Order: sequence, then structure tokens, then C-alpha cells
Amino acid sequence: MAEFSLPANSVVKKGTDFKASDGVKNIKRFIVYRYDPSTGENPYTDTYEVDMDTCGPMVLDGLLKIKDQMDSSLSLRRSCREGICGSCSMNIDGANTLACTMAISDIKGDVKVYPLPHQPVVKDLVSDLTNFYAQYASVEPWMKTDTATPPDRERLQSKEDREKLDGLYECILCACCSTSCPSYWWNSDRYLGPAALLNAYRWIVDTRDEATGDRLDDLEDPFKLYRCHTIMNCAKVCPKGLNPAKAIAETKKLLVQRKV
Ligand code: SF4
Ligand code: F3S
Ligand code: FES
Repeated sequence: MAEFSLPANSVVKKGTDFKASDGVKNIKRFIVYRYDPSTGENPYTDTYEVDMDTCGPMVLDGLLKIKDQMDSSLSLRRSCREGICGSCSMNIDGANTLACTMAISDIKGDVKVYPLPHQPVVKDLVSDLTNFYAQYASVEPWMKTDTATPPDRERLQSKEDREKLDGLYECILCACCSTSCPSYWWNSDRYLGPAALLNAYRWIVDTRDEATGDRLDDLEDPFKLYRCHTIMNCAKVCPKGLNPAKAIAETKKLLVQRKV
């Protein structure tokens, strides 16, 4: 997968959280993308030397140590630090992933951190995911029914039907998959991308939902669905181990099956 590219005129700044006289030996260099569109300046990288003896084990720990102790101007998103909220997604060591579940010890050499590729940048590591969320909303990710709700119980589902949602409902909308997909890079205005399509399929196969036909009609479009060319980056990077490519293939299969 392509790394986030920097302009040729990038400059490097440097910060440390210790003095050379401290005799600190366990140092890891973090090379971090910096950009503030409001300044009119080009993007650049800052290099920070972090004392790993006083740092937590994950990339997010290193970034928060930098922000708290070395450079408060660094912007990033995070909330749960447990791989649940999806907000700390970024490009680390050349691949999209969650900063809170990526161990620093798994990275050989410097820790290179960039925002998610091919998205507008709000500031530094914060991507503008407005289009991504709008596409998610466009698949109407909620249960739609025509029949009356049973008066005395929830809409039930067999154990087997519930199992059809495994590998789908776990999506945390981190956008690692969509922003690693070349088809999405070039057509994100019209191609829904793997995250939205996985979530569309999650409702298509939910046996309690009664809008399956409408959902399939909506996806039968040369761009929304069929711009997936089975490149498979999406499945490779998903930090939750999900397979959006499979969900897309299953959706295409359903569209063919309903024609015969
Ligand atoms: Fe993130 Fe995986 Fe969901 Fe894509 S499918 S948004 S990579 S959790
Ligand atoms: Fe993209 Fe995944 Fe399809 S990387 S082209 S959505 S298989
Ligand atoms: Fe929530 Fe990383 S902080 S997924």
C-alpha cells in the first residue's frame, strides 16, 4: 500500500523529552506528519525522541507523551485507547491501523506516523471524515420494517441467523479499510468504499430487516458497489480482522441471484 506522500520541500523539526546528560539510552524516534491548513504553509514532519523507559507500549502512548510533555500543538483523535471507538486510526509504519492497538515494539526503526491517506486533513493527524460518515449514513444502517412490532417481545432471530452477522457487526467505523482502497482514493465521491458496503451488507443479511430488496436496488449502481476491483487492501488492514471484500462479493452474488 502506498505511503502518504510528503511534498519535496518538507522540513524536519526536532524535540526531546530528556537532556543528553540524563544518559537516556532506550530512545525511539517518532517522525510525525504536521499540517495546519489555516496557516497556508506546506506540510512537514517533526521528529521527536521519546524515552521508552517512561512511555507506554503503544504508538498512541508515544503520541500522547509527545503531546503532553513535548509539543502540545500536535493534534490527534483518540478516546477509548482499547480498539473500540475507532477514532485513533492513522497511517503508521506505512499501513492504516489504530494507534492504540499498534505496539511500538512491533515497529522496526523509526515510528512514522501520518494521517489516513487520501483524505482532507483538518490538522496534523486528524482527517476530515465527513464524506466517509455521509456514505455510511447513505446505506441507512438501521433496521427497517413494514410489519407491526410484536406487542409482547422483541423481533426474534434464530441462533443461525444471528451468526450471519458475525464478522460484520464488529465494525468500529475507523475508516482504515476505505482509506487503504485505491478504488476509493480515485472515486470516493461515487464509490461507497469497503466500510459503508460492509455495513450495507450487515443489514442486507439481517433476517429481521424487511427492506432487503430496496437495499439491493440502491447498490445496483456502476459506482456505488461495482468500483470494487477485489484489490483486498481493505481486508489486509482492518484492525478488527473483518473482511469487507467478502461482504462486497456476497452482495454482488445476491444481485446476480435475484436476477435468475
Ligand atoms: Fe475499520 Fe474494519 Fe470497519 Fe473498515 S471494516 S471501518 S477497517 S473496523
Ligand atoms: Fe478496495 Fe477492498 Fe475492493 S481494497 S477494491 S474494497 S476488495
Ligand atoms: Fe479508540 Fe484507538 S482510541 S480505537
